[in-house]
Amino acid sequence: MFEIGIQLRRERGAENVFDFSLGNPEVEPPAAVIGALRRVVEENLPHTHGYMPNAGYPEVRAQLARRLAASTGLPFAAEHLIMTSGAAGAINTVLKSILDPGDEVIVLNPCFPEYRFYIENHGGRVVPVETTADFLPDPDRIAAAVTPRTKALILNSPNNPTGRLYPAGVLRELNAIVRDPLLAISDEPYRPIVYDSVTPPDTLALIDRSVLAWSWSKAMAIAGERIGYLAISPRLQEAAALANACTFAHRILGFINASAIWQRVVAIEPEATVDVSLYQAKRDRLCGALQAMGYDAPRPEGSLFVFPRTPIPDDIAFIRALQEEGILAVPGSGFGRSGYMRLSLTISAPEIERSLAGFERAIRKVLAR
Ligand SMILES: Cc1ncc(COP(=O)(O)O)c(C=O)c1O
Repeated sequence: MFEIGIQLRRERGAENVFDFSLGNPEVEPPAAVIGALRRVVEENLPHTHGYMPNAGYPEVRAQLARRLAASTGLPFAAEHLIMTSGAAGAINTVLKSILDPGDEVIVLNPCFPEYRFYIENHGGRVVPVETTADFLPDPDRIAAAVTPRTKALILNSPNNPTGRLYPAGVLRELNAIVRDPLLAISDEPYRPIVYDSVTPPDTLALIDRSVLAWSWSKAMAIAGERIGYLAISPRLQEAAALANACTFAHRILGFINASAIWQRVVAIEPEATVDVSLYQAKRDRLCGALQAMGYDAPRPEGSLFVFPRTPIPDDIAFIRALQEEGILAVPGSGFGRSGYMRLSLTISAPEIERSLAGFERAIRKVLAR
């Protein structure tokens, strides 16, 4: 997609190319985050640039654990948290800790394609399970996919690519399935990016055997800084052993520890979030316009993505029709569900406006064929 983008820009001029394929936040980090970064740099406390315990600064973990304890009602403490290189670092760390070669991990299609590589990194076998027609986890199908080799179920809400938010009732049903030795790995980098003032249900509170892969990449628009954490539910009987394994795994995977300076920044401003209303306005404009043209484009409840049905079943063919209009989108088949496409709301509002005529021409063209 990146290469096609370069070619299209050369052919049509950059102003006539509309790149809906990227997940990189268009907005800048909140001023409070840059302020906290300045403060940490200016304080320049002695010995703050060196190695530290592999799980991260104990005082930072203790502070974040207090917040998790307050939000979940569970007795989180510093020893349940490992500061990581974003959600990707957290997921790889826990998979390295729990997987033996040939163990199975269930992912819910359509899903973030990197999960496959994370699982295979550690000798695991990917077991894709289809979601319902409206992209929610299907407890019956998941239960049927569990075998004696199943070690984990990866959940992602708000979801990339579908934008769905899993309701509390569904998470409660999953709680009945995620039994020892299974673990739910709840990947939640989009948790603060939700629309219409909804509060996302709390997976750690609703699924006993869960760990949280948290990241500030999207919340603060700092994906390049690599900061997040893995939180291990205190309800797990093996919480201490798992935390030890994860601390060791984090070290030997080469992360050593998460960014020292960014641990201090997020401890000062853990809640700072980009202005979600900007994404919501873009969601409303794009979905409203696409629906008026005849696209089946439901409004996402969260995340940075819209996941419309392609007007013809062949999503790759439709992506090509969009490219003829200078529009770059990702085919649903890249996420395990053909007949759909992912449009990222990280594109600017003026670019959305200028792209709309192309979306209209593309749907007319393919339906007239
Ligand atoms: C669903 C999902 N999980 C994990 C990640 C990785 O996030 P991080 O930058 O926190 O490692 C992404 C990034 O796009 C994502 O979309």
